[in-house]
Amino acid sequence: MDFLYQVTRPLLFRLDAERAHDLVTAMLRTAGRTPLLPDLIRVLYAWEDPVLAVEWAGLRFANPLGVAAGFDKRADLVDALALLGFGHVEVGTVTPRPQPGNPRPRLFRLPEDMALINRLGFNSPGMVAVAQALRARRSRTVIVGVNIGKNRDTPLERAVEDYAATFVALAPLADYVAINISSPNTPGLRRLHERDALEELLRELMRLNRHLPHPRPIALKVSPDETPEQIEAVVRAGCEAGIAAFIATNTTLAREGVRNRLAGETGGLSGRPLAHRARQTISAIYRLTRGSVPVIGVGGVMSADDAYLHICAGARLVQLYTGMVYAGPGIALDIKRGLARRLRRDGFASVTEAVGVHAGE
Ligand code: FNR
Repeated sequence: MDFLYQVTRPLLFRLDAERAHDLVTAMLRTAGRTPLLPDLIRVLYAWEDPVLAVEWAGLRFANPLGVAAGFDKRADLVDALALLGFGHVEVGTVTPRPQPGNPRPRLFRLPEDMALINRLGFNSPGMVAVAQALRARRSRTVIVGVNIGKNRDTPLERAVEDYAATFVALAPLADYVAINISSPNTPGLRRLHERDALEELLRELMRLNRHLPHPRPIALKVSPDETPEQIEAVVRAGCEAGIAAFIATNTTLAREGVRNRLAGETGGLSGRPLAHRARQTISAIYRLTRGSVPVIGVGGVMSADDAYLHICAGARLVQLYTGMVYAGPGIALDIKRGLARRLRRDGFASVTEAVGVHAGE
């Protein structure tokens, strides 16, 4: 498949970025359902190493690597992504009601920067369709998180109602829930980082969680564009509410280090230029919590080295999206092999031992 991706990538890259994504995901979906093909893919990609096993909030992950939110907004790729070797898949962002998102074009490739800019704006089939897709999945080994958000036309003052509705509909069907307050493409959403709004949101979701027969770990996904003071306030609010993890980070509005002429496009930047900023946020959160609340590190992970640096900065789990666009479906296997080698070479018996060893730098 990787050889296949090397051959097909130039053709895919001639297509509009979103059409290419739609084509690849259609192929993944079909591959997952074609007789015998899943078995073949499993043979090619099934590789795990006990050194990579991770626990978080009572969940056992075969490896720390997951697919970041946005790749599988409809929750119908979970089985296919599990076959490729990811330990978890975060589906969504899901909004309560279906919505189309922003007009196209809204996704741009910046190949010389190994980056993407997107302003999709939460295109979502809505929570009812996602609930159906989650019920239909077959793989029970991969951990599934559901990332929730608000509809664009819901005023910010009523955002809590949207998050609450999506939480009630989807939390029972997922292993964990991620609260997305950090997409730059829904006007005003990042204002939910402000203390009062955030406390109200977390209070309501934690209350609903306590009423579930099996409460779910709740993670809060943060922006890389906050000031150190804002991050500190967010971390304090998250800790007081009892959240189970911070996900750092979403895409950035910054354009530092970007060469491509598309840098001026409106939207969130992901991929290599985000790595440093994401890592700084990961280590800041690790230091603020003294490692007591796990961090899920995401942003610019294209290789095993990148994943290892996120872990050393303080991440217990690592996610990626843009890396898959540039490296193809074999990226999980490549990163896992490289990561296991790096951990052993540096004398770590598990991922957990390496978490945060460089967070002070
Ligand atoms: C995203 N991301 C994202 N995050 C989120 O919480 N909800 C979402 O719906 C989306 N949608 C989305 C679409 C596209 C096209 C991209 C590229 C990204 C952000 C994503 O989960 C991740 O935080 C960033 O992309 C940084 O990771 P990478 O891409 O640098 O590995």
